[in-house]
Amino acid sequence: MKPSVLVALRVFPEVVARLREHFEVETNDADADWPQAELIARLQGQAGAYITGAQRIDAALLAACPQLRAVCSMAVGYNNIDVPACTAHGVLVSNAPDVLTETTADFGFALMMATARRITESEHYLRRGEWSKWSVDLFAGSDVHGATLGVLGMGRIGQAIARRGALGFGMKVAYHNRSKLDPAIEAELGARWVNKEDLLRQCDHLVIVVPYSAASHHLIGAAELALMKPTATLTNIARGGIVDDAALADALRRKAIAAAGLDVFEGEPAVHPGLLTVPNVVLTPHIASASLPTRMAMAQLAADNLIAALGCGPNKGRPPTALNPEVLGTARLA
Ligand code: GLV
Repeated sequence: MKPSVLVALRVFPEVVARLREHFEVETNDADADWPQAELIARLQGQAGAYITGAQRIDAALLAACPQLRAVCSMAVGYNNIDVPACTAHGVLVSNAPDVLTETTADFGFALMMATARRITESEHYLRRGEWSKWSVDLFAGSDVHGATLGVLGMGRIGQAIARRGALGFGMKVAYHNRSKLDPAIEAELGARWVNKEDLLRQCDHLVIVVPYSAASHHLIGAAELALMKPTATLTNIARGGIVDDAALADALRRKAIAAAGLDVFEGEPAVHPGLLTVPNVVLTPHIASASLPTRMAMAQLAADNLIAALGCGPNKGRPPTALNPEVLGTARLA
């Protein structure tokens, strides 16, 4: 008998078809975000869960789903999954890194540029029919080329953004990260490590790409925003909760910083009302990795992981991007 798996979100039909070659598949075609109790109920008897960043996989769910053997996410960020608890329960976890790096960096850069050059604010003005004449400082923003790019979190996506800034736009790159880059990469990017406070003080355009965790909750709040230049911009493509959205809305309203570009929000899909009423912010609905080829690659990578984790397909027993490969070969997966 084929193992059964739950696909907790709507994914591409080709991906579901691939999963059906190996598994009995229950899908979420309505794409509803199931409440936690319903997710647990639907996972009863399922060997695998195919998820993204919106489903919470915690110790209570694992205890209630003793048949679960693999949780495979099509997101790169996995702050919604308690990986140590999964490991303790012998449940394999995978995410979807690498395939989205360049697409997400393109978007981060685009959002930063739209923010610096006030693109959505000026478009709204035009659409409202308010444009009557050319004028010398109409929507004059700040330059990107030659400016100082501050990258907070210098992982794969941070480096891809820094590369765009340094090599494409002649930006000076400063970064802050727990660990310093390899000196050869620092040299390629002309990037220098600085402490968080200096990064905030020095940068013209801050781009946030750190993973969310208890340690990065409100990493940027009122005190940090107060260190930034009044001409600076802040772009967040990482996770809601890293920036204190209430403090950011207040800083934008007071023009304590010039503008912000936000793809992620605390408590999304809700958006802090203060952010909806200030003009100097570009808002997008968590779409940084959303080019069609990349979303397909992410979805297929999650399927590759699930198929391999549950002992099927060419990578049988070797899920390509497992986060806790130490559980392979333990009782649940054997
Ligand atoms: C998107 O936010 C992801 O983590 O893939």
